[in-house]
Amino acid sequence: MPAGYEIPARRRGSRQLAIDLPGCDPSAKAIATGRARAGRMGVAMVRILRRVFLVLMLSAGIAAAAQGRETAAADTAGTVLITGSDRGIGFELAKQYALRNWKVLATCRTPAHAQALAGLAASHPNVVIEELDVTDVGEIEALAAKYAGTSIDVLINNAGIFGDVASQSLEELDYDNFVRVMAVNAFGPLKVSQAFIDHIAASRQKKIVTITSGLDLTPVLVPSGFRVCG
Ligand SMILES: NC(=O)c1ccc[n+]([C@@H]2O[C@H](COP(=O)([O-])OP(=O)(O)OC[C@H]3O[C@@H](n4cnc5c(N)ncnc54)[C@H](OP(=O)(O)O)[C@@H]3O)[C@@H](O)[C@H]2O)c1
Repeated sequence: MPAGYEIPARRRGSRQLAIDLPGCDPSAKAIATGRARAGRMGVAMVRILRRVFLVLMLSAGIAAAAQGRETAAADTAGTVLITGSDRGIGFELAKQYALRNWKVLATCRTPAHAQALAGLAASHPNVVIEELDVTDVGEIEALAAKYAGTSIDVLINNAGIFGDVASQSLEELDYDNFVRVMAVNAFGPLKVSQAFIDHIAASRQKKIVTITSGLDLTPVLVPSGFRVCG
């Protein structure tokens, strides 16, 4: 044995157990046999514990790998911002994107009243609810500033109103009503698109989608006897 070398306690014990002790008294033998049995049990226990430890480590590794795959999927799916997402088409879009693992910036005028959206966000951590009235320039700019540096793959200008359709004709124009319709349906999408242009330009998909309706042109603004061509 090299000078200064010491057998570790456990190994030292097992050596003693391997030694046949000729001439030693029976009680010493019994102690030695007991120690040998205890030693064998100890070794077996250590082996079992090692296996349990290995199985646990393996399970943890598999779980971590699965988690990693999920994170990667979430990372690659993209980010969508939807206006007017508390009900109707906007809500359904938010739900479908959430189910496909997108990060959803689900905006609406009054989050406190958006129960369905709150339920969606509660079951999908990738859904974030943000307050946004598309006619409120200050609110639009504040939200764009809040997400500065976040790339947005798809902006969906969904918020829209019909207004009082009858009073939007050339013959029966209600100016205030029409201004309101234009503010929500036309200037709103323009301002939101302008405010988030850098977020969209920085993304992979770079898409602005604006949902509209044929109602915008025909037959509302067109008096009888005229028609829109295009
Ligand atoms: N449904 C159709 O058949 C149809 C057909 C063609 C096109 N579209 C277009 O599709 C879009 C969605 O239609 P929809 O049927 O889902 O309409 P909807 O059920 O009436 O929902 C309209 C959404 O727009 C939101 N909104 C209204 N004014 C807003 C404002 N100033 N700022 C932010 N959000 C505002 C509403 O929020 P609140 O809950 O706060 O009011 C609501 O979330 C609209 O642009 C519509 O013109 C619909």
